[in-house]
Amino acid sequence: MRPAIRLGVNIDHVATVRNARGGQHPDPVAAALLAVQSGADGITAHLREDRRHIRDTDLERLRSEVGAPLNMEMAATQEMLAIAQNLRPHACCLVPERREELTTEGGLDVAGQSIVLTPTVHALKEQGIRVSLFIDPDPTQIAAAAAMGAQVVELHTGAYAQDRVGELERLRRAASQAASLGLEVHAGHGLTYDNVGPVAALAPVRELNIGHFLIGQAIFDGLPTVIQTMRAHIDKAAGH
Ligand code: PXP
Repeated sequence: MRPAIRLGVNIDHVATVRNARGGQHPDPVAAALLAVQSGADGITAHLREDRRHIRDTDLERLRSEVGAPLNMEMAATQEMLAIAQNLRPHACCLVPERREELTTEGGLDVAGQSIVLTPTVHALKEQGIRVSLFIDPDPTQIAAAAAMGAQVVELHTGAYAQDRVGELERLRRAASQAASLGLEVHAGHGLTYDNVGPVAALAPVRELNIGHFLIGQAIFDGLPTVIQTMRAHIDKAAGH
């Protein structure tokens, strides 16, 4: 039987709500602890250049107060590299970032940006940090990610979330190609109870990172129920 798929819970939008009023509530670190108690295998947080949700102190507290693996999403900039080297999270996921975007809209252009990305990947790996590249399910990008020495690719499921039928086959081929090149396969973006199953059913997928839907649905059902329900959907689709 394939290993259970890890569920990484992205807590950025707990910080979005907190920041709306400038105080301390709701605390993303408390949400992370509750998520882990409820069955999350890890916590993901994106420190954006503009600090629109997660702040530097949130990451420091996530690292020191939550025992579960921390996956820091970041742009490949000197500033973020220095923060990651100091923080030493379990993993870093390199993402493209544009200030004006609402969320991470597309995958990294690993093939076209290798001059910028390669030193960042190597510097993080030297610190013992597992490096993941967030890419579209595109054969050229997967080959470039493997050539660059990343251990993981996270396949962007945003297009799949918009057009399930057309995009699932692309994800399937991308996951197989990545696994055959020795890359660990993760996936995320736009995943919900309704669309997570076919992605979890792809045999090479080892981890799913999910945020917006879980935090939004927690308003209605509470975070523990939402995480347990998502876990059940994932485990069922993966045959556990
Ligand atoms: N993975 C990556 C690399 C992301 O940038 C995001 C969004 O921040 C997610 C997963 C989670 O996406 P969503 O919030 O749509 O579940």
